[in-house]
Amino acid sequence: MSPLIWDYGHIGNYEELWLLERAFGKGLSDRTLYDTYDASLHPREERPSLDLLDREGADLYLDAVRDAVLEELQTADLGGDDPLLRDGFVYRMILQHECQHNETMLQTLQLMRGEGYRQEAQVEPPDGNPTDEMVHVPGGTFVMGTDDSACALDNEHGTHEVEVAGFHLDKTPVTNRAYLEFVEGGGYEREGLWRPEGWAWTQERGISAPKHWYQREPHSWWTQRFGFDEPLHMDAPVVHVSFYEADTYARWAGKRLPTEAEWEKAASWDPETGTKRPFPWGDEPPSQEHTNLDQLAFGPAGAGAYPAGTSAYGVLGMIGDVWEWTASDFAPYPAFESFPYKEYSEIFFGPDYKVLRGGSWATRPYAIRNTFRNWDYPIRRQLFVGFRCAK
Ligand SMILES: [Fe+2]
Repeated sequence: MSPLIWDYGHIGNYEELWLLERAFGKGLSDRTLYDTYDASLHPREERPSLDLLDREGADLYLDAVRDAVLEELQTADLGGDDPLLRDGFVYRMILQHECQHNETMLQTLQLMRGEGYRQEAQVEPPDGNPTDEMVHVPGGTFVMGTDDSACALDNEHGTHEVEVAGFHLDKTPVTNRAYLEFVEGGGYEREGLWRPEGWAWTQERGISAPKHWYQREPHSWWTQRFGFDEPLHMDAPVVHVSFYEADTYARWAGKRLPTEAEWEKAASWDPETGTKRPFPWGDEPPSQEHTNLDQLAFGPAGAGAYPAGTSAYGVLGMIGDVWEWTASDFAPYPAFESFPYKEYSEIFFGPDYKVLRGGSWATRPYAIRNTFRNWDYPIRRQLFVGFRCAK
């Protein structure tokens, strides 16, 4: 991960780059800041040794950028031909980016050792109603992706019809209770269940449970959250598992991970009207009635906790609580065009990355929707990520 103060300065510099320089041709800071905070110039392991702004300097910088940005907004032409400014795209891109870094910074805080990070929950996460039931999604075409050019990022852009064969999908995400059965049932010891590269990874790294899990005594499992010990919340979705662990659990359960198309169909398609919903429950922006987002509960709710957030097919918890691994590699849609820069998505396409969907309790509402695609390496566990199974 990056040092937190790098993320913070980078949020401001990305805003300066896109909203002042690219959109309006204005400069503010000197070029060295651009180099320091350019994510493609410095991989994460180099960032601690850069000459970073300190907290006070970063505060001043972010405020100065924001003031200049708001001034330009007074006269910005959002109805013209400039694809950056049209419909306010670049403003939304900046918001999306800042929201994503908010979550990344929490991932870092969850990984940090030391005194722990305490933040009071602003809402009590509701108890769940987990179930083993699966929902049947009949075969047929649906429309994948979006044509929303104001909010959507390049990789989710370009609607296209996709034929999906009928399948079953877990109604609620896999819980800690269910995953514990796999752990205690020897799932991490059965080589034959694992993809060879996943098995090699568990052996090399000595992995025998989700990240942050530990055992106090037989059958008493605890987890560390932000540096504090907590008993496992059995009804909550399992979190901090890699793609390999999710994929292996699914095989152990006689199931598999859903493809990205299956996930999006189950979340977004309304078979009665033949239309697509921006959120599983419909058009309304996310609220606490629908889902657990925005770091308000500061942890996952029980699986199946939000009946008002149910999708048209009857699937629960697709947005919020935990990201969900899919079986799919990160690949371009048919009409993909890189915009506004290749390093946003294009350089990541290929078999190295798996797609995650749905956002987590730590995702800001602005940054998530049915069509949003996230991606990471299959060994990564720092994300607030779980999964559900299909068959
Ligand atoms: Fe970034």
